Amino acid sequence: MKKASPYMNWAKTQQQATYNLALSGVIGYPLAELPVTIEELEINGANADGYAPLLQALATKFKVAPECVVHSAGTSMANHLAMATMLEPGDEVLVEYPAYDPLLAVPRYLGAQIKRFARRFEDGFRLDVQEIARQLTPQTRLIVLTNFHNPSGVLTDNDTLKHIGELAHEVGARVLVDEVYLEVMFEKAPPSSIHLGKEFVVTSSLTKAYGLSGLRCGWVLADAELATRMRRLNDLYGAVSPFAADYLSLVALQNLEKISARAKSILEPNRVLLNEFLDGRKDLQAVRTEFGTTSFPRLLNGSVEALCTVLRDKYETSVVPGKFFEMPQHFRIGICCATAIIKEGLARLGAALDDLLT
Ligand SMILES: Cc1ncc(COP(=O)(O)O)c(C=O)c1O
Repeated sequence: MKKASPYMNWAKTQQQATYNLALSGVIGYPLAELPVTIEELEINGANADGYAPLLQALATKFKVAPECVVHSAGTSMANHLAMATMLEPGDEVLVEYPAYDPLLAVPRYLGAQIKRFARRFEDGFRLDVQEIARQLTPQTRLIVLTNFHNPSGVLTDNDTLKHIGELAHEVGARVLVDEVYLEVMFEKAPPSSIHLGKEFVVTSSLTKAYGLSGLRCGWVLADAELATRMRRLNDLYGAVSPFAADYLSLVALQNLEKISARAKSILEPNRVLLNEFLDGRKDLQAVRTEFGTTSFPRLLNGSVEALCTVLRDKYETSVVPGKFFEMPQHFRIGICCATAIIKEGLARLGAALDDLLT
């Protein structure tokens, strides 16, 4: 289907399991933990182009002017707004491989010509600047990548990104960096790539690192002129966001330290468990993630589809099949649920892998 994302459909309908190793964002933050009362919440308010205090809080967080912040319904709409503003039908866009499916589905929907540049497993899924340079042409309008990389959780350093920005500049293209997973580094996160040059456009949200997906608080960071065009385009889509969600998003941003502490207390022990699990499996090969929420191991023998079926039917556990990232011999493991769930889920994954061997 041209106007659909098979992965998103799977994530909404098939991902749920008692032992969910498919999630890539920290399990939901409870409303009761936010310091807010029902009396403070209003249904309607002044948020025509975004709730001003929320835009200001985001601008402060990222050290940009509020005019450079476009509020959007999650990173999903942020990516859509960014691409739909920057691309015309027939324009050439370079997208990383493997990629988060909507990053391909959106330019396909917009009628762009999609070319790919590989992040090779053998190379630790790192971005290869020479490979991007080879794919770039005078027709290229946009380079699209994720940092951290979904599905591998690999971090790209700002020197490499700057180099990619210089290449884009030479042909008049821009670089869209989806930084939704960079938030998972919390206070250790490098500065957003929006500061690397005017070619850069950045998208992100409160979804992954903080367990706040339900607020749909996303944003685009872009130069002021481009940001204005995105706001006007958003008039054709969501127009305005739910005011109560904007208010809660502001409260969340004001309490990010507490929310981050809870996320770290989940992710840090889970990452240790994941690495111990990967150490113990001779049938899997994986690039390790130092900070990410996911790993994307390769199954050395046997079928991932068969593994996923056994895992679900016999072990009540879900992982994301690699076919959704165009790498069917891989699967994605997320470490975003409570530690007891991840521990048991990994034990069950091990048992399913053992079943496959016998
Ligand atoms: C790279 C990437 N971008 C965007 C999203 C969607 O994020 P949001 O919930 O903020 O729309 C995801 C979710 O899996 C993702 O992996």
